[in-house]
Amino acid sequence: MSKVTVVGAGNVGATVANVLAHKDFLKEVVLLDIVGDLARGKALDSWQQAPIDYYSTKLIGSDNYADTAGSDVVVITAGIPRKPGMSRDDLISTNAKIVASVTKAILEHSPDPIIIVVSNPLDVMTYAAHQVSGLSDKRVFGMAGILDTARYRAFLATALQVSPKDIQAILMGGHGDTMVPLPRYTTVSGIPVTEMIDSEQLDAIVQRTKTGGGELVKLMGTSAWYAPGAAAAQMVEAIVRDENRIFPCCVKLTGQYGMKDVFLGVPVKLGARGIEEVIELKLNEEEMNLLRESEGHVRQVMQVFDSMEV
Ligand code: NAI
Ligand code: 2OP
Repeated sequence: MSKVTVVGAGNVGATVANVLAHKDFLKEVVLLDIVGDLARGKALDSWQQAPIDYYSTKLIGSDNYADTAGSDVVVITAGIPRKPGMSRDDLISTNAKIVASVTKAILEHSPDPIIIVVSNPLDVMTYAAHQVSGLSDKRVFGMAGILDTARYRAFLATALQVSPKDIQAILMGGHGDTMVPLPRYTTVSGIPVTEMIDSEQLDAIVQRTKTGGGELVKLMGTSAWYAPGAAAAQMVEAIVRDENRIFPCCVKLTGQYGMKDVFLGVPVKLGARGIEEVIELKLNEEEMNLLRESEGHVRQVMQVFDSMEV
């Protein structure tokens, strides 16, 4: 039975903890926030939902890292979200310091956890947590691809009037407007999506996916949490249950796709040891060019982090 810590008890973190509790496979979820009463309140509220929704996972709210001791998996959602008019990259100066300090504090009590980063700008905050932690690159990675792919799948389900359950897809690249949805790897219950939708409609869905986060920021004045929280919880489940699920995750590339020392979303196999394998798709020239463009963008923001000397 595993213990999971979620750092940041805001919109996304509280959702991760609540979704994990509902899945009912963990011994304990610790929800930690710099605002201790917020974490304690949300954990207590989630625990009071247990008799209604039938789960036994213990929920602890805290601002004390001692309570996180012995965590198998840690999800970092601490940091500020973007507001209308901001890009994810605008968050770097605040969130880099937060992610770095959280990572250090976690390691004082859990020496070898698997860390899933959620805070934005995602690819670079994953880089930051990896740098600061000194952990293997198989144990520090980021959540974005499951969310971005889910948005793409949801838009397709609406357009095709089919269940979202039947849309399988993969999406690569950084968590930003340069992300690379891959229609060539998209099927509807095994049927190539291009046989079910015209190219103009598909192009519009690809475009809407790329700006899907911003669409929600405009609607709500802050960024999304239900789908992001569920996506991070799905990664935790794949790890703890050693499922070897294939998901797009942000990982350090070490030569795959001809790219090195950059954190980028690619398909991986996720299991008990974290990243069990990075899967290399045979991308065509157009897809590779889009991935390189996304890589270039992420590298620029990585350089901003390097220059910060956090
Ligand atoms: P939020 O503002 O609701 O929650 C953030 C929480 O972090 C707050 O409760 C705050 O008190 C806490 N916090 C700040 N500094 C802390 C520290 N040093 N230690 C512990 N806790 C600290 O924000 P929300 O909506 O939950 O978003 C969290 C982050 O996740 C943002 O950076 C957002 O951009 C990012 N995000 C990433 C997504 C992805 O796909 N990777 C999707 C959605 C959000
Ligand atoms: C999202 O895509 C803002 O990264 C956040 O919803």
